[in-house]
Amino acid sequence: MLAVTDLVVRYGQTTALHGVSFAVNRGEVVALVGPNGAGKTTALKAIVGLVTPASGSIEFDGATIVKHKPENLLRRGISLVPEGRHIFASLTVVENLALGAATRADRRAAKKDVAAFLDRFPALGRRRRSQAGKLSGGEQQQLAIARALIAQPELLMLDEPSLGLAPLVVDQIFGVVSELRDAGTTVLLVEQNATRAVELADRSYVLRTGEIVLEGDSQTVLNHEDFLASYLGVAAGAPGAPVASGVPAASGEVTA
Ligand SMILES: Nc1ncnc2c1ncn2[C@@H]1O[C@H](COP(=O)(O)OP(=O)(O)OP(=O)(O)O)[C@@H](O)[C@H]1O
Ligand SMILES: [Mg+2]
Repeated sequence: MLAVTDLVVRYGQTTALHGVSFAVNRGEVVALVGPNGAGKTTALKAIVGLVTPASGSIEFDGATIVKHKPENLLRRGISLVPEGRHIFASLTVVENLALGAATRADRRAAKKDVAAFLDRFPALGRRRRSQAGKLSGGEQQQLAIARALIAQPELLMLDEPSLGLAPLVVDQIFGVVSELRDAGTTVLLVEQNATRAVELADRSYVLRTGEIVLEGDSQTVLNHEDFLASYLGVAAGAPGAPVASGVPAASGEVTA
C-alpha cells in the first residue's frame, strides 16, 4: 500500500534521511522506532507532503505521491496524528470529531459515526461536551486518534502517541492501537516505547541517524543483538556494547 524507496531528506546542510526504504502493506501495523533525532518524524512528514525529499520515491496504492499537498493526501486516505496531538482546544469533543468527519462525502453516515466513536472511546463519550483543552493528556490523545479515524483513512500514521503520558495511560493508548490492529486498520506507528511498539506490530523498522539498521517481524527485531545497541548508540560487539539477551525484552521504555 505504501512504499518508500531510497528516501533522502535534507534540512539545509543536515541530511536527516540517507536513502531510507520501508513499506506498509494493507492491514498491517508497522512500527518505526529509533532514538531521538533518528529521522522518524521526518519520514512521516515526507509521506504527508510536509517536507519535500531531495530524492527517492514514495508510492501509495501504486501511484507516486511526492510533491502532493497535505490536504490532497488526506483525501487520498493518508492521515497523520502528529506528535503533540493537535486538537482544537477551545472546541468540544463532539466538535473536534465532527471536524474530523468534514472531509467525508457521506454526511449522514459521518454524523452517525461521531456517535459511534463516542461509544467506542468511553472516556470521550463521558466528556463529549467538554472543551478538548480541558481533557487529560491521554483523553486528548484518544481524541486525536478518534478524529483521524473518523475521516476513514486507509493508512493511519501515529507519531509518538504515548509521549508524555503516565504508565497507565500509555497502556490505554497501546490498547487502542491493539484494537486497531485487530480491526485490520493499516497503521504506521512511530514510538519511543520501542519494545512495546515492536511487540505490538506485525513488522518493524529500526531507524538510526537517518538509516534503517534493522527490520523484520517482532521476534527477529527483539532478539537481534543490534536492537538495543541501536538505542544506546553503541555498535554491537564494540567494547561496552550491551548484550541484548541479558536484558528483559518486555521492559518497555527504551529511549536514547
Ligand atoms: N525543521 C528542521 N530543521 C532542521 N533540522 C531538522 C528539522 N527537523 C528535524 N531536523 C533534524 O533532522 C533530524 C531528524 O529529526 P526528526 O525530528 O525526524 O527525528 P525523530 O526521529 O522524530 O526524533 P524524536 O524521537 O526526537 O522525535 C534531527 O537531526 C533533527 O535535528
Ligand atoms: Mg519525532
